[in-house]
Amino acid sequence: MDPQQLKAIAAQLRKPEGTEAAEVVERMNKNNRNISLKTIELLELDSGDRILEIGPANGAYVAEILNGNEVKYTGIDYSADMVREAEILNEKFVSNERAQFVCGSSEDLPFEDGYFDKVFSVNTFYFWENPSQHLHEIRRVLKIGGQFNLGFGSRDFMEMLPFTKFGFNLYFPEEVKEYLVDASFRVDEIKALEPEIIEIVGQSIKKEFYIAICKKEY
Ligand SMILES: C[S@@+](CC[C@H](N)C(=O)[O-])C[C@H]1O[C@@H](n2cnc3c(N)ncnc32)[C@H](O)[C@@H]1O
Repeated sequence: MDPQQLKAIAAQLRKPEGTEAAEVVERMNKNNRNISLKTIELLELDSGDRILEIGPANGAYVAEILNGNEVKYTGIDYSADMVREAEILNEKFVSNERAQFVCGSSEDLPFEDGYFDKVFSVNTFYFWENPSQHLHEIRRVLKIGGQFNLGFGSRDFMEMLPFTKFGFNLYFPEEVKEYLVDASFRVDEIKALEPEIIEIVGQSIKKEFYIAICKKEY
């Protein structure tokens, strides 16, 4: 693949929009299914929870969350195209007010302090130019005792994906932990998922993903 194509994929992953988004989003949903569902499972949802997802793209897993749990879901994505698609895909849950999709960024969340019981985000941290500001906002909208789960690929694995050289900020798990601790989260665990072996340009590599499990204690 030439650098222009890789650059275009990276731009779509950062903010999917326009006609080129569909193909990238379809592949992304397939590849990220395991980590997304595991991140949600580890939230240990309780009946009545208000949950927030940062960067759901087209909300491909929202039906799975809402079919199994009596919770109210909000997804915020800064791609207006993704918000529109997520609303269409999850129309049933939007019309019965179990889900809402909002266009905006975690850099400046349009929600009251302490509104959500649980917040999660998967494969978004790489795009945050000022992670501390995003984490501060996430903590602000969480209730005291609330939980934040952050799913991400480790730097050494992500570096092997050829498109990540175009604008991805990559971190080792200890670096992500440092950001979380600095933002006053209690980090209970940085859970390593069972690595899958995948093929990239004829090479077998280990897909290493982590889920940071954090609490807002005060
Ligand atoms: C690489 S995709 C990941 C989508 C999905 N979470 C997954 O893991 O398959 C990143 C998505 O998050 C959105 N996004 C990234 N950072 C965001 C932020 N700070 N606030 C809102 N949306 C964000 C992008 O528009 C895009 O839809």
